[in-house]
Amino acid sequence: MTNSAGPNRRVIAIDGPAASGKSSVARALATRLGFVSVNSGAMYRAITWHVLDRGLQPHDREGIARLVETTNLATNLHEGEWRILIEGADPLPHLRTLRVNEAVSSVSSIPRVREILVAKMRACARDYDVVVEGRDIGSVVFPRTPYKYYVDASPEIRAQRRAAQGQRDQIAVRDHADSSRSDSPLTVAGGAWVIDSSSLPIEAVVDEILRRLRAQSFFGPAAKSSRITRAAR
Ligand code: CDP
Repeated sequence: MTNSAGPNRRVIAIDGPAASGKSSVARALATRLGFVSVNSGAMYRAITWHVLDRGLQPHDREGIARLVETTNLATNLHEGEWRILIEGADPLPHLRTLRVNEAVSSVSSIPRVREILVAKMRACARDYDVVVEGRDIGSVVFPRTPYKYYVDASPEIRAQRRAAQGQRDQIAVRDHADSSRSDSPLTVAGGAWVIDSSSLPIEAVVDEILRRLRAQSFFGPAAKSSRITRAAR
């Protein structure tokens, strides 16, 4: 198993279930550190939009694998965030639609799709220090990074947060699909630090992670934290 990050590059992995706040945490953390922020969920969403746009069914695993293999997937950096372009187009406006929400777990369970996107993420980490968020970042994409976090929140709070964003999104259905798939399921990576964000604002979660990073010699001497516990290896 290789780290897949460049020798001098650092990777902070942030995983968690739907609407746990990890995207906001990852963006804020990346800004504080001056790292590039990589939202892997947005990449799986982008592919899902493309699949639907081309008229494929989300369960057509072979058709989707063929489509993704022949799609021009470029990447670029925009205001500190790493973005994917599909056939030259920015998929951003389509990523949070109901039909993408409903199809993304199915499309992202296809191994060939994952292989192609994981290779893109690892290429990014060869060029930049990164904060990467998703479902399998600490477990599969960058298993050797010492900086792994799992941001959780109660199902009720997560449902409330998603509703407050004005989105229709069956997060319990996605969580079940993402956790039970055979390839790269959502899991707490061995050695990850788990943060319950149910009663914490984003900046407080970021502060917890920064405290822990400090304790891991990322910046300097150790500090104690009460809300953060480490998963068994
Ligand atoms: O924002 P939210 O947490 O609801 O979802 P997201 O991070 O945008 O991820 C959307 C979907 O992409 C997830 O439900 C997974 O099916 C898939 N995904 C994945 O399979 N692996 C990742 N590393 C990230 C997302």
